[in-house]
Amino acid sequence: MQSGSRRRLSPTRTALAAALLVLSVAACAPADTPRDPDARTWIRNMWTGPAVLPQTEARPAPERSLAIDAPRIMNRREARTALTNPLDETPAVLAEGQALYDVYCALCHGDEGDGDGELARHYRRMPPLTARHVLNYPDGFVYSIIREGGRNMPRFGDALSVDERWALVHYLGTLGSPEPQAVAR
Ligand code: HEC
Repeated sequence: MQSGSRRRLSPTRTALAAALLVLSVAACAPADTPRDPDARTWIRNMWTGPAVLPQTEARPAPERSLAIDAPRIMNRREARTALTNPLDETPAVLAEGQALYDVYCALCHGDEGDGDGELARHYRRMPPLTARHVLNYPDGFVYSIIREGGRNMPRFGDALSVDERWALVHYLGTLGSPEPQAVAR
């Protein structure tokens, strides 16, 4: 129908237009289920596509996502005091921490944690992890640094499991201390 035209319509034309309108509205109205999913109807992608119809089954939430009212992950300040290392500092844990350090951290912080890794020269500042203040960080604080990264440090929460992060925390505590043999001499 032409909009804006104020032409008088004959009764027959009006009836015809009304019938057409009813028909087209009926065609748009969604049915509960498509009668024949393979039937060639226009715009049936909402039925046959991967979309979930409203008020039907919800898709599973992405892995490790949190509901709005679920307990949230502690921020760094909270983690500092609330989190303690659940792993015992065994030789196996330290060995795992060292292996992880060599893979994930040494390229920036250096093999011995002195801040002289391969990539360090690309940064304005690469903190040595052997510094007294870093060695004095509470375990939970170091853990959250590893999990969330920093301004220029990447986060490792996605790459490392919880136990791997805690193993690293134990290993970082040994950086800067003399080798056991050296002490024995
Ligand atoms: C791509 C380079 C890079 C990698 C890889 C990296 N870091 Fe860092 N890290 C930094 C930088 C840069 C800082 C200084 C803070 C900032 O700018 O994010 C930092 C800071 C830190 C600090 C705090 C130091 C301070 O003085 O407060 C700790 C602890 C730390 N990193 C541990 C780690 C551990 C453990 C790993 C391996 C899991 C790691 N980092 C991997 C670049 C890196």
